[in-house]
Amino acid sequence: MTQNQVRIGIIGIGNMGGKHAQHIIDLPNTALAALCESNPARLAALDFPPDLPRFSDYRAMLDNTPLDAVLIATPHYDHPDICLAAFERGLHVLVEKPLAVHVQEAERAIAGYQQARRGQPDLVFAAMFMQRTWGHWRAIKAMIDGGELGRLQRCSWLITDWFRTQHYYDSGDWRATWAGEGGGVLMNQCPHNLDLYQWLVGLPARVHGFVHFGKHHNIEVEDEVTAYFEHADGAVGHFITTTGESPGTNRLEIVGELGKLVYESAAAPMPDAADPDAAAAADGDDEPAAPEDLIFYRNTRSSVDEIRLSERGFDKVPYGREIVPYAPRASHGHELIIENFADAILGGAELIAPAEEGLNSVMLNNAIILSAHKRATVELPIDGAEYADLLAQYIAEPPR
Ligand SMILES: NC(=O)c1ccc[n+]([C@@H]2O[C@H](COP(=O)([O-])OP(=O)(O)OC[C@H]3O[C@@H](n4cnc5c(N)ncnc54)[C@H](O)[C@@H]3O)[C@@H](O)[C@H]2O)c1
Repeated sequence: MTQNQVRIGIIGIGNMGGKHAQHIIDLPNTALAALCESNPARLAALDFPPDLPRFSDYRAMLDNTPLDAVLIATPHYDHPDICLAAFERGLHVLVEKPLAVHVQEAERAIAGYQQARRGQPDLVFAAMFMQRTWGHWRAIKAMIDGGELGRLQRCSWLITDWFRTQHYYDSGDWRATWAGEGGGVLMNQCPHNLDLYQWLVGLPARVHGFVHFGKHHNIEVEDEVTAYFEHADGAVGHFITTTGESPGTNRLEIVGELGKLVYESAAAPMPDAADPDAAAAADGDDEPAAPEDLIFYRNTRSSVDEIRLSERGFDKVPYGREIVPYAPRASHGHELIIENFADAILGGAELIAPAEEGLNSVMLNNAIILSAHKRATVELPIDGAEYADLLAQYIAEPPR
């Protein structure tokens, strides 16, 4: 490509698509080339330059506008079909999370990409996992990858600060339904957390999930989840989430033989009663930046060696407490993912979030629900066809 700007068309101009459009306008390496929005009233009301091509059908946009890439920000079920339509036309794709609602669909999107890439090796497929740009997650990843924790033993994430009201769930008819979005807190709020879990410590080999559907809200999908993970190397994991607790907690503990890393987000600011909209942050956005919330308890020697070699019975391994420094984020990071996507297209930059890795968070999500349904531990990778059948069953008759 000889140009210095990637021409991007956005599909789905709702809450996120509108923000992404502004980022594409603002970034130096991207140009907003077209808008596609299936809701006619919303399309007519969009406040963008009047000469910007607008479409209600994405295929019409793909066939009638000179584009290099698309950004997909529709509700989740449409993501794979739109990815495939773009790949068939040789276009690069940046897809919102989740990549798909279930494993079979995620694999279909990835297979379409891999097939298109055979004829077009430079084709780029990225996902909007912008939390991967946040300083504390990057610092944790660098410490794990750099071996500072040694062999990992446990990763526990208590992520219950996704509080939502009934009013939120009633605000869109696709929300919190099996037919409309294919799940609840795991599908809508937690794709970032599930992606980060697998990005930091890898996918577990086995999953056991415990799930409550509509426990705190009048919804048919899950709003409270506890999952237990077993990794192939013996490490264990826990993942606890809900949209029904306030105040909630966001605490991640990763323990290795060489120490314990603890991230706990500062309490979110009290909602402003005079400005309730200010509290209505988008997914994953509502965490205040507060360095000194990442602590490493560094062992002076390996706890595994201590268990094996010590000649004393009760002494703990001596450790020090270190505040881990990291660069606080200046923004939510969406624009960094878009900029990186364009850099990958223009100059071959390494992607922060390759969309093929989006399969893993979908896998974890589906495995938790499948396990809860079967009341049994499930092995990964799960059988995508079995989960697709379960989802069809839940759509036809929501679980109680
Ligand atoms: N990365 C993040 O921080 C983040 C935050 C919120 C939402 N999301 C994701 O973004 C996606 C959209 O969420 P949202 O909150 O913006 O939803 P939304 O309902 O506000 O917007 C979706 C828009 O897509 C339009 N649409 C639906 N089907 C379409 C189609 N086939 N063609 C064109 N337009 C279509 C709808 O009319 C709507 O305007 C979801 O997958 C969601 O998970 C990501």
